Amino acid sequence: MQLKDKIVVITGGSKGLGKAMASCFLKEGSKVIVCSRDESEFINLEEGILGIKVDVTKENELQSLAEKVVTQFGRIDIWINNAGIGMEHVSIEEIDSVLAHEVMEVNFFGTFFGSRSVIKYMKKQKFGTILNIISSRAFDPSPLSSIYSSSKWAVRGFTELLRKTLSMENISVIAAYPAGMQTDFFGKTKPVDYKNYMEPEFVAEKIVENLKKETLEEELIIKR
Ligand SMILES: NC(=O)c1ccc[n+]([C@@H]2O[C@H](COP(=O)([O-])OP(=O)(O)OC[C@H]3O[C@@H](n4cnc5c(N)ncnc54)[C@H](OP(=O)(O)O)[C@@H]3O)[C@@H](O)[C@H]2O)c1
Repeated sequence: MQLKDKIVVITGGSKGLGKAMASCFLKEGSKVIVCSRDESEFINLEEGILGIKVDVTKENELQSLAEKVVTQFGRIDIWINNAGIGMEHVSIEEIDSVLAHEVMEVNFFGTFFGSRSVIKYMKKQKFGTILNIISSRAFDPSPLSSIYSSSKWAVRGFTELLRKTLSMENISVIAAYPAGMQTDFFGKTKPVDYKNYMEPEFVAEKIVENLKKETLEEELIIKR
């Protein structure tokens, strides 16, 4: 796909992988809109990237984001459900159930609400691409990140279902499964092998290169 002048929306685009993807799309000549909760981070975005405050756990905020973009730019070509959070590595017995709900709300419901908000416009315009950022944990769950892994398994299942559902609508559904990346995702408690993790810019390039291919990979696994 040619990315020049494409309208691209990235959830959780103020930091980490989302921010790196935003820069790649901008370089390709796309019009890029990102969203996240903390508006103060938008000052660090490259010039030309539009930041809009949205919490992906609130469906009405995602609906209004999609509506704003269509009103301003006329359509949405690519919608990326990227916003995601993890939680401290602990055993199943030690998991704080409030935090567990929060992880499911952001990772699963954020993707579900985001997809639902854009589908209605993509069906009307009769084209579009939805890209879900999942995780290698959706194939290889870790006992110490059981809720995170489960949330990403849920997103993987939803992604397959979405692809089946939208296959007759000329809407592509792509999944990307990155392994560990060096981002703020881990907060202050970094995994022991963090220095071996990938740079988000490396992962972003792989994702954007895939979208540029004539025949792209619908299930893109990204590891070092
Ligand atoms: N880092 C890794 O090792 C790794 C590996 C595989 C997959 N992933 C996945 O890659 C994606 C990006 O992660 P990252 O590593 O780039 O993390 P990050 O650096 O922590 O960035 C996360 C982004 O999501 C936003 N966000 C979080 N909760 C949100 C909410 N409720 N509503 C809107 N935006 C929200 C954050 O901004 P605000 O906090 O301001 O909202 C931020 O922009 C996630 O889906 C993650 O699961 C990460």
